[in-house]
Amino acid sequence: MKDIISEGLFDRAKDSIPGGVNSPVRAFKDVDLVPPFITKANGSKIYDEDGNEYIDYVGSYGPMILGHNRKIVNDKLKEQVDKSLSYGAPTRLEVEIAELIKEIVPSVEMIRMVNSGTEATMSAIRLARGYTGKNKIVKFAGNYHGHGDSLLVQAGSGALTHGVPSSSGVPENITEETIVAEYNKIESVRDIFEKYGDDIAAIIMEPVSGNMGVVPSTKEFMDYVRKITKEHKSLLIIDEVMTGFRLALSGAQSIYNVDPDITCFGKIIGGGLPVGAYGGKKEIMKCIAPLGPVYQAGTLSGNPLSVTAGIVTLRYLKDNPNVYVELERKAEKLQIGIEEAIKEFNIEATVNRVGSMMTVFFSKEKVTNYEQAKKSNLKDFAKYFSLMLENGIYLPPSQFETFFISDAHTEEDIEKTIQVVRKAFKNMQ
Ligand SMILES: Cc1ncc(COP(=O)(O)O)c(C=O)c1O
Repeated sequence: MKDIISEGLFDRAKDSIPGGVNSPVRAFKDVDLVPPFITKANGSKIYDEDGNEYIDYVGSYGPMILGHNRKIVNDKLKEQVDKSLSYGAPTRLEVEIAELIKEIVPSVEMIRMVNSGTEATMSAIRLARGYTGKNKIVKFAGNYHGHGDSLLVQAGSGALTHGVPSSSGVPENITEETIVAEYNKIESVRDIFEKYGDDIAAIIMEPVSGNMGVVPSTKEFMDYVRKITKEHKSLLIIDEVMTGFRLALSGAQSIYNVDPDITCFGKIIGGGLPVGAYGGKKEIMKCIAPLGPVYQAGTLSGNPLSVTAGIVTLRYLKDNPNVYVELERKAEKLQIGIEEAIKEFNIEATVNRVGSMMTVFFSKEKVTNYEQAKKSNLKDFAKYFSLMLENGIYLPPSQFETFFISDAHTEEDIEKTIQVVRKAFKNMQ
């Protein structure tokens, strides 16, 4: 396979776009390859400028749960396009999506649409601070909540120190208010609350993290986080940007049976168009402008195209619960196939999967937190990734991402993928 056209486009892109991409992971830096430039996608397949077809497990990093170019979504979008693209005024569509999300996710009593997951988490944090009158935020190492300043934080040198910026350009006095705790470690959260207890506005967490590879929180951990936030009158913000409507119709919170104060959404609720949202208890949501003093706004928020794609996608998922049964079945089949190949070819790897989110960690140990995830062999990952791509399987180009199975993946796709995994592992022996 010669990626002549993609290579040329990548060179051109690098001259005009930082790193040649509009979001860093797309540059394939971790795997040291030229990213295929994509022309189109259909169902479970994605096509590049060089005429290659791949089975797509990136799914635009999560939104494409129904597969690409899904007719029910695109037909409605075409109808909406003829009614103009944006009005900056209230629409029936916004009422419908708000009611739909409230109906599906009972912890959400009111919801505000924004344009990305980043905006959703940034706004949720402002709201938590405004509502509680406190400033500190607790987040977990390895959880990602977008690129808002106060969340671009890594742990300080000791467990109980304030976070330090993980990006240049983020002032330390902003991250000083963010404390980084260890995921799945109750003692870590307990110690932080003992020290800062009544100054903590909220804990924000991914219920199942997809941003250090797939790592689920334990039920015990989730229950503890809910309990301690309640005890200290802090809010629990569950970031379901990735897991919402994916792990179950009502999201990870329905699996864990947890009742968060605020939930952040993105990805699937826009059906592939730019979107985000945050919602929660009425008493809290009423603090947002124009009702309350917490300011948040957006020229294109709730725009009719994203909302239309979201409504069609969510209604389809709601009306077809079998989608989740099938996602689980296909993902389990893929997991078993990969685990068998790991054994047969004696590869140092372990698979984490929750529903249709899955990661193959090139690590001997089970991965339950960020420290363990970081121990993965990144060279092995890069080799595996490159062999998979060469053989027509398009995976996220980083060890610390998740791959997504969609409603469009066929039995044949899963079987072919397992064959390619076997071939890759054989080659890596
Ligand atoms: C859990 C989580 N929160 C927030 C975000 C940020 O969303 P966006 O990229 O739409 O800003 C992401 C993005 O992948 C995410 O996975």
